[in-house]
Amino acid sequence: MPTASATLLCTVRGCGRALAASERGFACAGGHSFDRSRSGFVNLLQPQDRRSKTPGDTRAAALARRRLCEAGLERPLHERLLAALAEAGRAPLAVLDVGCGEGSALAFLAAQRPLQAHGVDLSADAIDLAARRLPEATWVVANADRGLPFADSGFDLVLTLLARRPATELRRVLRPAGTLLVAVPGPADLRELRAAAHGQAVARERLDAAAAELAPCFDLVRRERLTWRAALDRPGLDDLLASSYRGARTSERARLAGLARLEVTLERDLGWFRPRARGNRG
Ligand SMILES: C[S@@+](CC[C@H](N)C(=O)[O-])C[C@H]1O[C@@H](n2cnc3c(N)ncnc32)[C@H](O)[C@@H]1O
Ligand SMILES: [Zn+2]
Repeated sequence: MPTASATLLCTVRGCGRALAASERGFACAGGHSFDRSRSGFVNLLQPQDRRSKTPGDTRAAALARRRLCEAGLERPLHERLLAALAEAGRAPLAVLDVGCGEGSALAFLAAQRPLQAHGVDLSADAIDLAARRLPEATWVVANADRGLPFADSGFDLVLTLLARRPATELRRVLRPAGTLLVAVPGPADLRELRAAAHGQAVARERLDAAAAELAPCFDLVRRERLTWRAALDRPGLDDLLASSYRGARTSERARLAGLARLEVTLERDLGWFRPRARGNRG
């Protein structure tokens, strides 16, 4: 059990009351209850929230991502996040990872310093893996596009790493002096893989677009680009295809099938955002 955590909210339509820990899971004062899974997560997804613009990861994709993280593929990003936590100040910080997937980022951070760690993802398979990895955190299945099932202003730091960015909800759950830290793929990310698949790699800048989407609720106060390289063998390439690079068409997969190994560039553009005062839409 977590030592302390941000308050979860009931997701039954029209309810929204606080959830308190109960014998089997969580319950609200309105009589709604949610069981804890065997691995310790809680599924707050309501039938009307299942439909999403983006599907949650499959178990195979989440496992592939887990293997890549265990092989150190995201280590430079995770190390940078750790430094960002130290800058964020007082411990233990209440941290929420939105679209946390199989939970490697929070697990890495929580192993290094005390945290009130919370992760939310649409994929029950990914959250199940996360809960097995770090049982002391709060792991929740929910659709971030339909709302984050947490009380207002409960978090010091919210992360969204290659994941959804529901601006109004991100601001609502952050303390007014809190930080939103966004990671998007940088223009050079996986350029060798994309060149091998398409014959060319189109460089796309994504942080500016993310900042524009978030602008009604957040100011971008700092940006940083992290670039590193990794050598992938065939199983590693298969894991990359199964997780990060799922968009590949059959013809592209066929072109990649012949590769025994590939050295790839990994690139993350990081943005630090501060919440704007509520009601300020400028
Ligand atoms: C590219 S993965 C990134 C996972 C993780 N942050 C990482 O860096 O390894 C995107 C994640 O967002 C989740 N996801 C997709 N749509 C979502 C939604 N509407 N609400 C919450 N999570 C969502 C997927 O299940 C997946 O785990
Ligand atoms: Zn309720």
